[in-house]
Amino acid sequence: MYILGIETSCDETAAAIIRIDEKSGSIKPLSNVISSQIRLHARWGGVVPNLAAREHLRNILPVIQASLAEADIRKENIDLIAVTQGPGLIPALLIGTNTAKTIAYAWQKPLLGIHHIEGHIYANFIAKDPGDIAFPVLCLVVSGGHTQLVLMKKHLDYEIIGETQDDAAGEAFDKVARILGLSYPGGPIISKLADEFKPEKSLFPISFPRPMIASKNFNFSFSGLKTSVLYLVKKNQARLADKKFVRQVAYEFQQAVIDVLLAKTVAAAKIHKPKTIILAGGVSANTQLQIQLGKAVSQQLAGTDFSFPDPSFQLDNAAMVATAAFFRQQKNGLNDTLFSNWKELTTEANLKL
Ligand code: KG4
Ligand code: ZN
Repeated sequence: MYILGIETSCDETAAAIIRIDEKSGSIKPLSNVISSQIRLHARWGGVVPNLAAREHLRNILPVIQASLAEADIRKENIDLIAVTQGPGLIPALLIGTNTAKTIAYAWQKPLLGIHHIEGHIYANFIAKDPGDIAFPVLCLVVSGGHTQLVLMKKHLDYEIIGETQDDAAGEAFDKVARILGLSYPGGPIISKLADEFKPEKSLFPISFPRPMIASKNFNFSFSGLKTSVLYLVKKNQARLADKKFVRQVAYEFQQAVIDVLLAKTVAAAKIHKPKTIILAGGVSANTQLQIQLGKAVSQQLAGTDFSFPDPSFQLDNAAMVATAAFFRQQKNGLNDTLFSNWKELTTEANLKL
């Protein structure tokens, strides 16, 4: 089976083809084309929805064409089209959904709308065999728009057991980067600066709060942490020119975020006893988060596996959307609804998982 995935929820125009081996059920990405708009939005310090839509419109057809060419697949061989239906920026989402609907109509193919976060979760299943990830699964979702702990007792079954009360983890990285005068997106830059910091070279002690770390639930809050960074930087405005200061703030901020994410994930796992803990969303690209969560799982949760997506599938991409669609169609089949989705599919800015 071949699935074409399309993703345009934020600032990446993406299309991918995956192949599912009929016998083994293994999922192989044949292409994963991503056209990034990061440079376009960087000067605005964040994603501008209408600019994103204009750029998606320019890129979507060439990106889809490239995904078919790279996979060496003809449109006749595609069995299913999958598109991110939401959540995301409406002007951006509309380009993907309307393109997918048009193609589904023109090619007479079934069409499936996918939740963006469901896609991020299923990025963990790409290039794997069924059964490689044992259920129940506890998923720490950390992206630019979401921070959630999601319990999955089986495929496609989501129970949100905790979530952020304000900023998402990725959003906090982006806002702190802006406070530090760094460019967008903040996550990759902050993690690079944090990695360069040598604790023995601390300029002075900095201790940021770990919001809600001791609360009895699995919710998060990052806006107070961001405000603490803002106050410290305001008090030390002149030091912003000093790379050592910026590195130390980046390091201390990142560690505060990681400490909270780790504590909540481990606490949730002790109660819900998953067989596997997985990471999902753009912040899963953070090397220290991967290392420290991996260590915490092996030291504190004996017998629990830990996994995160391959680097090509950590940030927004369309292979993850196609993979989630594979599991959805496996459950519900390629039914009539999917064949009428070329006219029925809606675009949902606040789609619920
Ligand atoms: O999942 P994603 O690509 O888009 C959304 O669905 O939001 O996540 C983007 C977020 C941004 O906030 C970005 O700063 C963050 O992921 N991010 C990182 C890293 N790479 C990207 N955060 C921390 N460390 C990273 N290495
Ligand atoms: Zn995303």
